[in-house]
Amino acid sequence: MTNKSTKIIAVANHKGGCGKTTTVVHLASELADLGKKVLVIDLDPQANASLHIGLEHPSEVETTSAELLVGDVELLSSALKEETNLKNVSLIYGSLNLGKTEDQLKDDAPRPSEELSSKLEVLKGLYDYILIDCPPSLKLLTSNALAASTHVVIPIESGSQYGLYGVTDLINHLSKIRRVNPQLELLGALLIKHDERQNVCKLIKEEAEKQVGELLKTTIPISTKVNQAAILQQPLLNLDKSSKVRRAFQNLAKEIISRVE
Ligand SMILES: Nc1ncnc2c1ncn2[C@@H]1O[C@H](COP(=O)(O)OP(=O)(O)OP(=O)(O)O)[C@@H](O)[C@H]1O
Ligand SMILES: [Mg+2]
Repeated sequence: MTNKSTKIIAVANHKGGCGKTTTVVHLASELADLGKKVLVIDLDPQANASLHIGLEHPSEVETTSAELLVGDVELLSSALKEETNLKNVSLIYGSLNLGKTEDQLKDDAPRPSEELSSKLEVLKGLYDYILIDCPPSLKLLTSNALAASTHVVIPIESGSQYGLYGVTDLINHLSKIRRVNPQLELLGALLIKHDERQNVCKLIKEEAEKQVGELLKTTIPISTKVNQAAILQQPLLNLDKSSKVRRAFQNLAKEIISRVE
């Protein structure tokens, strides 16, 4: 079923390696498995989401989010790839070219943080969900994602004592973005590699609730299946349908649907 009001969810945190890409990939596949039409936009020069779900290597893709951001809206039709390794999930690839996109936007764009937003306008109504994988920085690429989004999820690495480092900067950044995108809603922090029995996880959970203000009820456990899925370029639901980590992402998709629809 196609939903007229497309939900655009940025998965953002400038802390590296906290689980942004993993969240985008498996949330996308679970939303699609629940019957939603989904588009993933990769805004990270590392292109990890594209390497996981793309049928081509990002370096071989002619039109990626980099060209789209600095180019004409007409590029959208060539940037949009319908088929991926995930059923019912489309992709706009990321690529190393994104490394120079921020400078190009600063030099040439009339509104450097609103280029993505203006380019996604024509896609509204065509997808139920658009998920944006952000790079580990708070610069223009992430600002473009947040300015284009209706919602934001902040993955936090629960098993690490440094999991919350810098998160207040991100919260402050959201307030600034709301000046151009007042509808941006924080869905909450998403605890990744979370284990309720571990003290460090309990402490991070309490602190995340304080510092972020909102917590998603679903938490994601640690599992070697996550790396396996990336290596095999598969969704968790193909690897082991009833594994704990797969069910966690399925629950996350259900929780998000019930929050935003
Ligand atoms: N629940 C999990 N269990 C085990 N490993 C995980 C889990 N989630 C993520 N990982 C692993 O942690 C590493 C970082 O995850 P991921 O790439 O999703 O983070 P990221 O925030 O996108 O990183 P970057 O900031 O570099 O873009 C990856 O090797 C990933 O496979
Ligand atoms: Mg990533």
